[in-house]
Amino acid sequence: MEQFHHPRPVWTGQRPTPERTRLLDALTGTVLELGAGDGLKLACYPAAVREIVLVEADPFLRASAAPAADQVAATVRILDGRPHELPVPDASCDAVVASLVLCCSPSVQGTLREVRRVLRPGGELRFYEHQRSANPVIACCQRLVSPVWSRAAGGCRPGRDTLAALRRAGFAVSVSASFPFHGIPHVLGTARPR
Ligand SMILES: C[S@@+](CC[C@H](N)C(=O)[O-])C[C@H]1O[C@@H](n2cnc3c(N)ncnc32)[C@H](O)[C@@H]1O
Repeated sequence: MEQFHHPRPVWTGQRPTPERTRLLDALTGTVLELGAGDGLKLACYPAAVREIVLVEADPFLRASAAPAADQVAATVRILDGRPHELPVPDASCDAVVASLVLCCSPSVQGTLREVRRVLRPGGELRFYEHQRSANPVIACCQRLVSPVWSRAAGGCRPGRDTLAALRRAGFAVSVSASFPFHGIPHVLGTARPR
């Protein structure tokens, strides 16, 4: 059941997609990744990122990230924590990365409050997330599959209106790409606290 709840084989051993690399483009300084999974993206961080803080609640995934952390030049800290309770001080990060995490969060607004708290002034959230489709038929399909999908994929809700949630939380949102991945609408972009 635990295996079913956290779809580990889906994430471990995968290669980073171009979108995940693009998500991290031109980041600098200290970057915190929410629900970082198995550290799949570690090799994609730009050299100007000096410190990477991976926050991950699942002990299996934290252990999976450790070997990849040894392979990068940046300092990597792998911390136990949940997206809505980040174990780092206020204003300690230049950027926060959310990749397929806001869709799973039991409290999106709580998570976004934490993102705001840990960002330094001028900092940004980079996101790569599911997005409710603007097409009502596709949005209806997303809603219909959600109960089963959520059980099979660690609480993921593919029809969540992530962009609306970001705006409601007081972020200025810039979408750099909207695209289907495995047929499901996704968005890639940047959000800055207003
Ligand atoms: C789909 S995976 C994405 C992993 C990684 N960010 C990536 O892009 O490959 C979702 C992540 O959110 C975390 N997560 C999901 N639900 C959670 C919850 N209720 N509390 C804490 N973490 C959760 C999982 O442990 C997992 O790391």
